[in-house]
Amino acid sequence: MGKKAEISIGVMRREDLDQVLAIEQVSFNQPWSLSLFEQELRKPALSTSFVACTGERGSRSVLGYLVFWVVAQEMHILNLAVAPAGRRKGIAKLLILSGLRYALAKGARMAFLEVRASNRPARNLYHGLGFVNSALRKSYYDSPPEDALVMTLPEDAFVQAASAGNKT
Ligand SMILES: CC(C)(COP(=O)(O)OP(=O)(O)OC[C@H]1O[C@@H](n2cnc3c(N)ncnc32)[C@H](O)[C@@H]1OP(=O)(O)O)[C@@H](O)C(=O)NCCC(=O)NCCS
Repeated sequence: MGKKAEISIGVMRREDLDQVLAIEQVSFNQPWSLSLFEQELRKPALSTSFVACTGERGSRSVLGYLVFWVVAQEMHILNLAVAPAGRRKGIAKLLILSGLRYALAKGARMAFLEVRASNRPARNLYHGLGFVNSALRKSYYDSPPEDALVMTLPEDAFVQAASAGNKT
């Protein structure tokens, strides 16, 4: 288990948001605002937000987070980031596998996301989990302007990855 032994995945709470926002601001050119995260926390039937953290409830340190929707049989990944000091330790993979397992239990059978075409770390991460490139949205992003790659995790790979998530 190594470094992952101390890291747990939990549901994001309002009191995590200061730490979440700090990670968000160093991770993206156009970070989500506090109110965007709050909006997601206010619609639990649709939206789920997980944090990867160390420490005890009440004083936990947030290392990363994942925000996703489960709509019908689809999981839509909306946001994912890991604190720079915590990267390359498997935290994003752990978050996604936990999300896939949760989404599978809620009836999802496929996953979708959009990623900046130049975001090689994220593309490698998703590719390693079985996501495939399924479309290009031209000039989808601003600051800087860039195409979005739509990546899809098809049903077989979704079920396989979500089942692997049971073992983490
Ligand atoms: C993308 C991001 C979430 C990855 O988080 P992470 O916890 O470092 O990722 P993991 O350690 O779980 O990496 C899993 C795999 O992803 C790939 N990967 C991750 N970071 C990488 C990098 N900098 N370069 C190349 N591949 C990388 C590797 O295949 C890695 O497996 P390996 O370490 O065994 O080689 C993180 O770099 C980040 O927060 N970036 C800024 C925000 C962002 O781009 N979010 C995604 C938006 S779609």
